[in-house]
Amino acid sequence: MIAIDGPAGAGKSTVAKIVAAELGLSYLDTGAMYRCVALLAKRAGLGEGDAEEVAALAERSKIKFLPDAVLLDGEDVTKAIRTPDLANLASALSAKPAIRKVLASRQRQIILEGGYVLEGRDTTSVVAVDAEVKVYLTASIEERAERRRSELVATGHEVTLGELMKQIAERDARDMNRPDSPLIRVPDALAIETYGLTPRQVAEKIIERARSVTTLN
Ligand code: DC
Repeated sequence: MIAIDGPAGAGKSTVAKIVAAELGLSYLDTGAMYRCVALLAKRAGLGEGDAEEVAALAERSKIKFLPDAVLLDGEDVTKAIRTPDLANLASALSAKPAIRKVLASRQRQIILEGGYVLEGRDTTSVVAVDAEVKVYLTASIEERAERRRSELVATGHEVTLGELMKQIAERDARDMNRPDSPLIRVPDALAIETYGLTPRQVAEKIIERARSVTTLN
């Protein structure tokens, strides 16, 4: 089990996918699950003040991961969950213990069989505390905003860098300062500053660590 945490836009997904493919492990994007719940809430006209109702919706929902798609109750929501709007709502809702409880327990169930690379905000500290390899990815806010901007532009969303930096700073503050499962760097995590490194180079560092502590090859 390899758990990777870090702030928004640090490149966790890209890196985790490379590591999973290289080592023949499965990949779990825990943030996509929070985004799915945000989409459910938005469609039901619910928000931050309705944590219990949203948790109940989350409990009834089915989230399925295909190799290149996320299905929410059978609907392909891969693109729909990638908007800045939903990222912010996901961050706000993820501060609610009732919602975290539903998703963290589901995530633990998914990874039960082992052989996963999972990434998010609390995978090293809460969801997969026994992971053999723990990683904390960091990058400057400018770099992260630039990375997000390229992703959004590629999917037809126009946002300025300044706007994105503001949104990311707000999301960081919320994700790091919430009382329930905040984003932290656990003491046994390998910290990687991604400045000047390609995703593959970051992935190589993680793979090297994985090979040194396990029998993976
Ligand atoms: O990784 P992401 O940007 O897709 O995550 C969206 C939001 O979901 C993030 O701002 C905080 C929340 N999240 C969380 O609280 N815990 C996780 N393990 C993953 C995501």
